[in-house]
Amino acid sequence: MILDIKNISKSFGGIRALKDINFSVKKGEIHALIGPNGAGKTTLMNIISGVEKMDSGDILFKGMSIKALPPYKRALMGLARTFQNLEIFGNLTILENIIAGMYLKNQRGFLSSGLMIKGINKDIIEKSSSIIEYINLSHRKEEIAKNLPVGEQRLLEIGRALATEPELILLDEPAAGLNTRETKNLSHLIQKIRDEKGITILIVEHDMELVMGISDMITVLNFGEVIAEGEPLMIQKNPQVISAYLGED
Ligand SMILES: Nc1ncnc2c1ncn2[C@@H]1O[C@H](COP(=O)(O)OP(=O)(O)O)[C@@H](O)[C@H]1O
Ligand SMILES: [Mg+2]
Repeated sequence: MILDIKNISKSFGGIRALKDINFSVKKGEIHALIGPNGAGKTTLMNIISGVEKMDSGDILFKGMSIKALPPYKRALMGLARTFQNLEIFGNLTILENIIAGMYLKNQRGFLSSGLMIKGINKDIIEKSSSIIEYINLSHRKEEIAKNLPVGEQRLLEIGRALATEPELILLDEPAAGLNTRETKNLSHLIQKIRDEKGITILIVEHDMELVMGISDMITVLNFGEVIAEGEPLMIQKNPQVISAYLGED
């Protein structure tokens, strides 16, 4: 197991967002975390990446407890993420965004683009360029990130995660706002990242076609609790899962 979620609970005031969550992610698998809006998916992603604190429980990454570590130390260990609300550097170019990702791995905190440029060598440019090619954004390399369509901004965020050379990537609704063609491309990219780079993926996603098409394992949350876990075909047939989704469109 690359990731073990152990008895995690979290409340916001009176709202119990997560109640004693347990599940594990196997190394090399594409594992989906699904559930209706408000189920607690993003809260759990925030707790795993370290931007939110849990009330109780533990997280083991590669067998080691990471709950006391700040986000950048988790990133150094090989844990990367993307955000439901895109968090790219809007005023930087695609290339600069990827370079920033590489620096996040190598230094504490973020350096402004001006500072970064001084330390950039040919090796970094080449590595970044090959990541940009990998996410199919070579034609956009010198463009300012905020000017890209949402679909390409989401690819860029994945590219920035890749730049940290992660072993596990957390994706929070990467298909949100994408059209059918963009979603297909995204689905291929996620599979390529797992198949070619051997990177484990934990994905939160509402697009069921995408989830069912690429996942090895699915964990279902509803009102902060795990209500089902299994392979896509089992999950699709699970009566509790079906009824949890009936209230949704
Ligand atoms: N920072 C916060 N402050 C207060 N309540 C929050 C906060 N973040 C999430 N919540 C609440 O926790 C619950 C789970 O939210 P979230 O994790 O965003 O769900 P999901 O991503 O599954 O839609 C919701 O009831 C939400 O309103
Ligand atoms: Mg969410």
